Amino acid sequence: MTIARVEFSSEQLAEVRRLQGLYPDTRGALLPVLHMAQDTFGYVSLEVEAYVAGLFGLSPAHVHEVVTFYTLYFQQPKGRHVVAVCHNLSCHLAGAQDILRHLEARLGVQRGETTEDGRVTLQAVECLCACEAAPMMQVDDRYEMNLTPDKCDRILRDLR
Ligand code: FES
Repeated sequence: MTIARVEFSSEQLAEVRRLQGLYPDTRGALLPVLHMAQDTFGYVSLEVEAYVAGLFGLSPAHVHEVVTFYTLYFQQPKGRHVVAVCHNLSCHLAGAQDILRHLEARLGVQRGETTEDGRVTLQAVECLCACEAAPMMQVDDRYEMNLTPDKCDRILRDLR
């Protein structure tokens, strides 16, 4: 993916200022502005981090810490679909590692990577609050629960 020039439009800059004005400390707006940056530039590169840091008067290192803490920010181009397998306690005990290994084998990528055809990004993420249906994963904007290898195969087949 070719990244657009790292600069918000004047309308987006007005939105940044509006968001910053909602909080006693402008840093409160950092997460939504990072989402705006990701939506605009495709992912949050180091260049994007530095640009956003400048909008907040923060160091790029501070913004980098935030970006790398949350799995919802992508530091590289993401696939058309994001498969995020929970590997927290309940899911771990219910076999999340086996599910992850199965998906890695099927997709030919490791967790954190995107398939060569750009179809799927595979992630291992923390609790998604559906512990009662462990093991589970989020596929784009929906939850897939009580996973088995066969069920994962069916889900992958439907991702174009
Ligand atoms: S531990 Fe997996 S959803 Fe909570």
